[in-house]
Amino acid sequence: MLWTASLCLLWASSILCVPVNKQRQRLLLISFDGFRWDYDHDVETPNLDQMAKDGVKALYVTPPYLTVTSPTHFTLLTGRYIENHGVIHNMWFNTTTKEKKPYYQTQFVNEWWDNGTLPIWITAQRQGLKAGSLHFPGTASSYQGEVAMMRDVEPRLYNYKNETAWRENTDKVMGWFRDQDLDFVSLYFGEPDGTGHKYGPDSPQRREMVKQVDRTVGYIRSSAKEHGLAEHLNIIITADHGMSTVYRNGVVEEITLSKIPGFSFKDVSFYLVDYGPSGMLLPKPDKLEKVYNALKGAHPHLHVYKKEEMPDRLHFAKSDRILPIILWADPGYLINGYFPVQFNKGEHGFDNQEMDMKPFFRAVGPAFHKNLEVGPFETVNIYPLMCHILGIQPEVNDGHLNATKHMLVTSDSTKGTDTNILQNVFTGLIAVAGFLVLVFIVMISHKIVKNRKEDKRSDSSKHLPDNNSVKQTSF
Ligand SMILES: *[C@@H]1O[C@H](CO)[C@@H](O)[C@H](O)[C@H]1NC(C)=O
Ligand SMILES: *[C@@H]1O[C@H](CO)[C@@H](O)[C@H](O)[C@H]1NC(C)=O
Ligand SMILES: *[C@@H]1O[C@H](CO)[C@@H](O)[C@H](O)[C@H]1NC(C)=O
Ligand SMILES: *[C@@H]1O[C@H](CO)[C@@H](O)[C@H](O)[C@H]1NC(C)=O
Ligand SMILES: [Zn+2]
Repeated sequence: MLWTASLCLLWASSILCVPVNKQRQRLLLISFDGFRWDYDHDVETPNLDQMAKDGVKALYVTPPYLTVTSPTHFTLLTGRYIENHGVIHNMWFNTTTKEKKPYYQTQFVNEWWDNGTLPIWITAQRQGLKAGSLHFPGTASSYQGEVAMMRDVEPRLYNYKNETAWRENTDKVMGWFRDQDLDFVSLYFGEPDGTGHKYGPDSPQRREMVKQVDRTVGYIRSSAKEHGLAEHLNIIITADHGMSTVYRNGVVEEITLSKIPGFSFKDVSFYLVDYGPSGMLLPKPDKLEKVYNALKGAHPHLHVYKKEEMPDRLHFAKSDRILPIILWADPGYLINGYFPVQFNKGEHGFDNQEMDMKPFFRAVGPAFHKNLEVGPFETVNIYPLMCHILGIQPEVNDGHLNATKHMLVTSDSTKGTDTNILQNVFTGLIAVAGFLVLVFIVMISHKIVKNRKEDKRSDSSKHLPDNNSVKQTSF
């Protein structure tokens, strides 16, 4: 009898560990760099329109500040504001040696990316899923020694505009899902950012590039079907930031720090300027007040903040990597050091409240409602949404599922994991209860047999079984 009871316990514990009927959800996160929220307003985009009919479209989304590529992409992958994940700039730098590394070289600096926050690939893999990434910023780095299971890092001097290569990359990723059985992949396209910088967001070249993006969206969805993935694959398409037109001398008075009275680069031991509309300065010892006072109010479109007085809403102060003085310019303006060195017609890096900095957001797949347009939300909330769809426990993050969960269908397919957990717990409880009942029966029958024997031996022990049975059933 006791052997039967142990077997029953084993059976009960195995039920608790086996997931029941899990409806598998896969997810592809796509970023089209610099795709501003309203880029589909002046171009025909039949494929994006079809995707909106088949899924969810947000009016726009709000990226974190600083609105530049690597920091905002790492927010998509982690759900953390930039001050919290530590990838505070596209460029790695060392204020002691004064070294800087440009965007591409910084992709390979593990210590820059791996600053205490894990991207979703690593978290998914640690929880038994399989993840991949193609060209997405952060892919080249390792995190606590781990990398995405399948990954593809673009070569140096990559042609980010090549539509044929976009299609090859799409098919490669769909092949990963089908042949390597991946659950999550992040996929990056370097346009329309490049074209927006070079020709400006209002140019015909930008509109042509948006058509190329639209064709690619159509290609992505048909490639998913051809790879037999349409049923289980969710696709989120968004971007890291928008784009704004730059004004030049003649139209406006440009911001050039060296020309500001009372300001001198001699008072600064390290600086990051000539990088669009944002800048950071490390003044020499005892020069902080001097530098700050010279710059504050020096130009009507230049904002100057000490790190500790940065507005909370920007979430760009807490990291040790952020330098003591932070500068940013209003839309249309750049921050030049000694003289203008950049001649882009479009820029980003502005305040994330500016409408020109807002990216687009689309989602389609079994987890999402159809033909639903939703209001804006911050991109920190995309991470908890992705973790929910994949059925994984998120890391500590700055987003909330309640900002995005209204996009999700509430049918069994997406509630799959929650229902399964409840189901498992319920089955487990029944099994344990069954086991206890069995133990009770074993003990009682054992006692009855024993009592019958005792009854035969002595009439004076009649009251004893009651005491014993109370003791035995209470353990
Ligand atoms: C910067 O370089 C100095 C000198 O090589 C080194 O001691 C320091 O650790 C470096 N700091 C960072 C953040 O890499
Ligand atoms: C993050 O980087 C800073 C230096 O830039 C370093 O002092 C700090 O220890 C790092 N934190 C983690 C958790 O890696
Ligand atoms: C575009 O990509 C295709 C496929 O990788 C390649 O064969 C072709 O040479 C590329 N064209 C340009 C102009 O880079
Ligand atoms: C979401 O939940 C958080 C924390 O519970 C709360 O602070 C926030 O106001 C909620 N947001 C919405 C849109 O309901
Ligand atoms: Zn970008």
